[in-house]
Amino acid sequence: MTGFDVRTATTEDYEEFFALFGGAMMFDMQADDLGRQMFEPDRALVAVDSDEIIGTTRALTRDLSVPGAVVPAAHVTAVGVKPTHRRRGVMSELIRRQLREVPEAIAVLWASEPGIYGRFGYGAAAWGTSYEVDLNRVGPPAVRTRPGELSELAVEDAAKQLAPLLRSLQEHRPGVSGRTELGWQRHLRDKPDDRGGKTARRILVHRDETGEVDGYALYRGKMNWDASGPASEVSLQELVAIEPSAYQALWQHLLTMDLAAKLEFGHAAIDEPVQQLVTTPTALNRRVSESLWVRVTDVVRALGERRYAVPVDLVIEVADDLIPANAGRYRLTADGPLAEARCERTEDAADLSLTVTELGAAYLGGRPLAEFAATGRVTEHTPGALATATAAFGWPILPVSIEIF
Ligand SMILES: CC(C)(COP(=O)(O)OP(=O)(O)OC[C@H]1O[C@@H](n2cnc3c(N)ncnc32)[C@H](O)[C@@H]1OP(=O)(O)O)[C@@H](O)C(=O)NCCC(=O)NCCS
Repeated sequence: MTGFDVRTATTEDYEEFFALFGGAMMFDMQADDLGRQMFEPDRALVAVDSDEIIGTTRALTRDLSVPGAVVPAAHVTAVGVKPTHRRRGVMSELIRRQLREVPEAIAVLWASEPGIYGRFGYGAAAWGTSYEVDLNRVGPPAVRTRPGELSELAVEDAAKQLAPLLRSLQEHRPGVSGRTELGWQRHLRDKPDDRGGKTARRILVHRDETGEVDGYALYRGKMNWDASGPASEVSLQELVAIEPSAYQALWQHLLTMDLAAKLEFGHAAIDEPVQQLVTTPTALNRRVSESLWVRVTDVVRALGERRYAVPVDLVIEVADDLIPANAGRYRLTADGPLAEARCERTEDAADLSLTVTELGAAYLGGRPLAEFAATGRVTEHTPGALATATAAFGWPILPVSIEIF
């Protein structure tokens, strides 16, 4: 007897769903047409007590870049429980049911607090880095760009031109979520109420020699003066550029804005190349925290969908208390980063054993499996298996999630 039921949401739940979640997160969510269009009620769950919604969760249909591939991933969000109904197992019931029902082989989320999701088999798979750059110290000075190399785009023209660049980032780096057309609309929406005292969003683009856009940055500014003079702030939301010349020009521009003393950026990768462009990396003032958490919901499909950095042929034993069908031994074989992998059930003896949590943490190539052996969370049964698995699951470019969803 739990005192509540869990059911799939309906279109009519939209307002109450977001009022509940907004209340749990301590902000007033505005119902609007775009939000309604993106709701996907059949992918949302509600906990109800006497017809009142007391808990919510939903999964967004989006894809995600993983090592060597872009795959469907249930993007879990809007996890909330009415403050008067906390600590009675409402969230646990919602999350357990969601994980058993999602059709994708992995589920991913950003956690408001890192203590919550490990118990459900989510592993912290990507570290994110936030910067508070001291622009007076970071260097180097601005360089001159050729005419037309940098310009601003109007928001009406942006989504079409920026979408292919995000896709190329997905091909390059794991951890990056894809955006649908509606997703782009929401991402670029710029309501004055959401600006936090900063300017309207600027859409800065870089063009190659032929005039094609090959990189962009989304940012805002905030005028400020202190006792020593101008101290304005640049707030960088997103910077996407695979071409080195575009990446370099966009960063140099932003790091040398007139009157600015500080640049804030919340979504840098651990191995963000801008660290090589500045003369004083400590002036980036980096702070590392968990970004994307990964839950493997179907081991065979999930391990078969990504690629592996070196050849591998190993039997991995996986424990999973929540999804018993996932537990067992699997043979993983792959011929290096360009080859498709195979993962199938086996009765052979295990070379390595772990729980689904460590598998999730290692899935994007950003957390070495050997790190978990040091605390007993991964056990090696065959000498050499841990080194091979660590190299195979790793990836040359580290994962980063560039958007909290
Ligand atoms: C976080 C939240 C969803 C938890 O809901 P809940 O129904 O109280 O959770 P449950 O009763 O199912 O708790 C399950 C376990 O998680 C733990 N837990 C819950 N919230 C936690 C938190 N914020 N940090 C760490 N552990 C937490 C509980 O102590 C419990 O542990 P136990 O199994 O060892 O007893 C709810 O408090 C909430 O809505 N908070 C504000 C919004 C939020 O942070 N949402 C998450 C967005 S990612």
